[in-house]
Amino acid sequence: MNSVELDQVSRRYGRITALDGVSLSIPAGSFVAVMGATGSGKSTLLQCAAGLDRATSGHVRLAGHDITRMRERRLTRLRRDRVGFVFQSYNLLTELTVRQNVLLPVRLGAPRRRGVDDSLDAVGLGGLGGRKVGELSGGQRQRVALARALITAPTVVFADEPTGALDPTTGGQVLGLLRRACDHDGVTVVMVTHDPVAAAWSDRLVLLRAGRVVADDPTPQADAIAARLQNVFQAA
Ligand SMILES: Nc1ncnc2c1ncn2[C@@H]1O[C@H](COP(=O)(O)OP(=O)(O)OP(=O)(O)O)[C@@H](O)[C@H]1O
Ligand SMILES: [Mg+2]
Repeated sequence: MNSVELDQVSRRYGRITALDGVSLSIPAGSFVAVMGATGSGKSTLLQCAAGLDRATSGHVRLAGHDITRMRERRLTRLRRDRVGFVFQSYNLLTELTVRQNVLLPVRLGAPRRRGVDDSLDAVGLGGLGGRKVGELSGGQRQRVALARALITAPTVVFADEPTGALDPTTGGQVLGLLRRACDHDGVTVVMVTHDPVAAAWSDRLVLLRAGRVVADDPTPQADAIAARLQNVFQAA
């Protein structure tokens, strides 16, 4: 089964074509990295796939549902119950505790398919539930965001530059946790990144140029990814 399917998806903003006829099937339990130059449509792809933005044309299926013309309320519920998000900027409430942040989706009505302590243990933050998020380091915050994404045992986690604000060591820990969610819990991960070392954690590498998929292959080693990016940019 596929967790995400895009069929000829285009997204135009006025005269700008951010996505141009993208077709992509992402099987359940896979880890896909999306790369490409700035402005190539990576975030737009992620948002259309996650039902945060609407395709101008084409079809999108998410967690077994055609969301192309799904009503906003149903779509919101589907996202809440089946999808986790991790962003570069964490999107946490710094005045609340770690525990309160992790429970936020549940407070908003999402199913609690894992315990808070279990979720925090899974990201190496066991015992920190009572701390205010504002007092944590960047790497700890991103792990809170991951625990929050995983508490509902989502079908898919979408991550947009999840390690963009982290040093390589801390970033590596977060990537290891995404990899683990995929391998141990069967979570599908779709991750946008600029970093070949981050992308090397994935199973499959999709390269975008000017809103189109220009390569879609099993992920090579980091140095080969860097070389491939060079080629894509030079050809642009
Ligand atoms: N809300 C919007 N309104 C108008 N244009 C937009 C909007 N969002 C994105 N775009 C345009 O669509 C194109 C693709 O943007 P997108 O954010 O998907 O790129 P990206 O690959 O994620 O870039 P980056 O690496 O800088 O994050 C860009 O030309 C951008 O200016
Ligand atoms: Mg982006």
